[in-house]
Amino acid sequence: MLVNTPPMGWNSWNTFGPDVNENLIKKTSDLLIDTGLRDAGYEYVVIDDLWSLKERDPETGRLVPDPAKFPGGMKALSDYVHSKGLKLGIYSCAGTMTCGSQPGSYEYEFTDAQCFAEWGIDFLKYDFCYRPAFERGELLYRRMGTALANCGRDILFSACSWGDDGTKDWIRTTGAQMWRSTHDLLDSWEFVKKRITEQLGLIGAGGRGCFNDMDMLVVGMNGKGHVGLKACTPVQYRTHFAFWALTGAPLFIGCDVGACDSETVGLLKNEKLIAINQDRACCQPYVAGGYRNWRVGHDEEHFVLARLLENGDIAIGMFNLSDGACNLFFHLSELGLSRICGRKLLMEDCFTGQISESGNGQFVTRVEACDAKIFRCRVEAE
Ligand code: GLA
Repeated sequence: MLVNTPPMGWNSWNTFGPDVNENLIKKTSDLLIDTGLRDAGYEYVVIDDLWSLKERDPETGRLVPDPAKFPGGMKALSDYVHSKGLKLGIYSCAGTMTCGSQPGSYEYEFTDAQCFAEWGIDFLKYDFCYRPAFERGELLYRRMGTALANCGRDILFSACSWGDDGTKDWIRTTGAQMWRSTHDLLDSWEFVKKRITEQLGLIGAGGRGCFNDMDMLVVGMNGKGHVGLKACTPVQYRTHFAFWALTGAPLFIGCDVGACDSETVGLLKNEKLIAINQDRACCQPYVAGGYRNWRVGHDEEHFVLARLLENGDIAIGMFNLSDGACNLFFHLSELGLSRICGRKLLMEDCFTGQISESGNGQFVTRVEACDAKIFRCRVEAE
């Protein structure tokens, strides 16, 4: 299965943890439509951990959906989700048990892949708990990747080994279309900031075919739900979303869509950011600038990322993760626009729609604490 752009959807874990059931999945599917989120691109509705019984079916060896949570069974649920123009995702684990202590797929890879295909599943998130100590991660993911590629249905393989065991060096051998490069993201600015900082060394490790997954979004959680902590401010949630979008990460909503305010829905639907995220050229983002105060440079709290887009535009994100406002800058020459090429940038702010011009040298702007400015820039003759 070839995936050309970062997958998008919703996942039950962040907010609902173990309380996943068929009504939630149906209701969320309906809400994705009512809010316009489906039409904005969020298409996979993913059931995370704790959907099955503790024991496999003794006769068939198959996983059994918990009848108290999924009384209609998975096939009827996937029919419902498909009838809404959405796709259904499910969760399992490379080890003997899932992280929530349900049966894992270890040594049942082909049985489970076959079963998921029969249920009409379109996406498998595959976790990394309880693997036997002697087994290499790369082999376990390759097993499930091979089983999925042979199951007769397109099932997107979302590997979730948290970057462990040197995942980035072997993940593309497994057939996975996305890979979790981080441990879990919880709902606080400290977590978001830590994840962003870690990712700066990994921004080249994604791209078409196998996208770097930085975990589900905590946007809109507001401190509630299973991974709810201190929450972020609206500006911090915006910076979080902007970083995921600009770097081409999969976008999976983690909040309760039914409890989203219009500001959250608006952010998640930001067309300009989603267009950058989904840009089909999948060019690698790079550091193009940083702070410009009493000294000049960039560090993990102050940096400018740029990314060339398919139509020749350049996306630019100016990130200030620190607690104080600062001036951020970049040189056009870093973008491949030397002074002699006679070009400037027409810069559209992806949040306000405001247009500004760069001149042909450097662009400097003030960015408030924990904030980011994201521009889509057209390259124009001076
Ligand atoms: C791990 C994963 C999470 C979630 C839980 C479920 O922690 O990283 O995203 O799937 O397991 O138990």
